[in-house]
Amino acid sequence: MTEPGSTAPTYPLPVRIAGTGSYLPEKVMTNHDLELTVDTSDEWITSRTGIRERRIAREDEFTSHMASEAAKRALEQAKIDPADIDLIVVATITPDTLTPATACYVQQQIGAFKSVAFDVSAACSGFLYAMELARHAVGAGAFRNALIIGAEKLSAFVDWNDRNTCVLFGDGAGAAVLVPSTNGGGRILSSCLGTDGAQAELLNIPGGGSACPSTPGCTPTKTATLAMQGREVFKHAVNAMRKASTDGIAAAGLTIQDIDLIIPHQANLRIIDAIVERLDFSRENVFINLDKYGNTSAAAVAIALDEAHRQGRIKPGDKVLLVAFGAGLTWASAVIEW
Ligand code: ACO
Repeated sequence: MTEPGSTAPTYPLPVRIAGTGSYLPEKVMTNHDLELTVDTSDEWITSRTGIRERRIAREDEFTSHMASEAAKRALEQAKIDPADIDLIVVATITPDTLTPATACYVQQQIGAFKSVAFDVSAACSGFLYAMELARHAVGAGAFRNALIIGAEKLSAFVDWNDRNTCVLFGDGAGAAVLVPSTNGGGRILSSCLGTDGAQAELLNIPGGGSACPSTPGCTPTKTATLAMQGREVFKHAVNAMRKASTDGIAAAGLTIQDIDLIIPHQANLRIIDAIVERLDFSRENVFINLDKYGNTSAAAVAIALDEAHRQGRIKPGDKVLLVAFGAGLTWASAVIEW
């Protein structure tokens, strides 16, 4: 009930990011390490992708563990107790188990027992899909706050004998806490999401699901490892991320000149360069960390957002464009006023 004399809130409420966090496993795998196991070279990987090394989770370190560590750091920064979290959305294509959702393990691990918790599967766009769902859930007043996480243990779903894919991916997690934005103080201005299911075959994990289960008595004909038509994916990635960027900026009522920082999906430096050129944007104002972590799918934008924030690359009032692309095919953007 509204107190006498106070103004009733007007829904939907604007929503802001109150804290970010990330976690990367300790183990570093360099391009030179990969030279010892597959027919590749540091020169090939660096010149074709920009990736120099990636992090690999321990055998007993699952997606939920990395997600929980990132979540704790984001909650600490937001000064919110896990017990006060209403909603947890984990974006992942490498869940601990097919069911229950990885978000349920995270809820248990961080002690967010009052929260509703579930996963979204939208590959590299997953964190931005989660952000858009959570923005509407919090903005509508259905939940007081939300913890969104992008987390992946891709090393468990990569064929380490396939040089076309194994050099590209890494493990890690990133998180953000969303709350209503009162008294100004920044807000998510716009978001654009898209999906093209007709291109589902370009990038998938063909085995391990109901189409090719690994249940007793059933011989799986397809492996549960990432398969990708790299060249085709590359072309779609450039077009989709450029369009998601321009649509997101227009939906926010802005132009590219208003954007202070772009945080793109960290898949390939050549993809990022192609987008930045098409947007006519300064490369200096693009956040890049794929040289250290490779492609961590749903975690990539989340980790980059946290690093950019903690390194002081985002200042109050800055307008930040997040943009991603992944299996599905899916794409997404969000424009945030910090
Ligand atoms: N080391 C050495 N040679 C290699 C390697 C390697 N690791 N991998 C491939 N090659 C070879 C190929 O076999 C090919 O040889 P060939 O000409 O004798 O057949 C040659 O290098 C060129 O291969 P291309 O596929 O044409 O290389 P390209 O320049 O396209 O780069 C890459 C490949 C890096 C995969 C690129 O296409 C790419 O980044 N695609 C997009 C990936 C992406 O963005 N994914 C995002 C979504 S991920 C998700 O949703 C989980």
